[in-house]
Amino acid sequence: MQANGKDITVHANGINICYDDLGTGGVPLLLIHGFPFDKSMWKPQVDFHKNHRRVIAADIRGFGKSTANSEKGSISLFADDLIQFMDVLQLKKVMACGLSMGGYIVLDAVNRYPERFDSIVLCDTQCIADSPEGKAKRYETIKMIEAGGLADFAGGFINKCFSEETLKTKKELVENTKKVILAGSIASITSTLAALAERQERCSSLDQLDIPALVLCGAEDTITPLAQSEFLHHHIKDSSFYSISGAGHLSNLEQPEQFNQHLNDFNRSRNL
Ligand code: MLT
Repeated sequence: MQANGKDITVHANGINICYDDLGTGGVPLLLIHGFPFDKSMWKPQVDFHKNHRRVIAADIRGFGKSTANSEKGSISLFADDLIQFMDVLQLKKVMACGLSMGGYIVLDAVNRYPERFDSIVLCDTQCIADSPEGKAKRYETIKMIEAGGLADFAGGFINKCFSEETLKTKKELVENTKKVILAGSIASITSTLAALAERQERCSSLDQLDIPALVLCGAEDTITPLAQSEFLHHHIKDSSFYSISGAGHLSNLEQPEQFNQHLNDFNRSRNL
């Protein structure tokens, strides 16, 4: 099954998943966004890579145009959504590229369903679980959002997402990204904060990964710092690692040319 287009919806794992599916050929590149964004954060990658291969960007449950149900969210549930979405689209194997929470989902899915992945791209992410302080902070944020809405959360979070250079020179990008947060559902954002707080560590299984990995990280990422990507690189047998200069946590949006170049080189090495 291959239906090229934008904003296509399929039913998988009890919810509707909305996705863009563009380009043809090669191992499909499946893009999984970070928290609390949606598939629109992959626009520079979809626009570039669709000229070279099939690219699919999906909204995670409760974000963008994908629906949520009353089930409590978890990173493993999002990973199950991903696998069932792949089943519906008849994607036997993909190159999965996840940024931040998207990376947590990829690490969970590849751990349980290694046969479904040709290769992985881990961007601005990490394998550790939250520290007790980190967890407590997430639950405080949930209370703050429930009491006062998304405005303060969005204002604070957006400043942490970008490098100083991006904040100064790419104001439109910063504003548009903030709008995506503000358009989100409070229920999904708070339940996903709890899912992030309760996620399992995945560092102890990195050495079992038997497929190639590309690790990318903004040099000025303060949310999932460079040291976390270096750890991933050192513990995955077959991995390459690049830091993206002039970028913070959203390296794919801040420096799309560098990001796309690395992804394209990695893709070529998989489709020789
Ligand atoms: C993300 O960008 O997906 C989140 O910041 C991840 C996190 O907070 O752990």
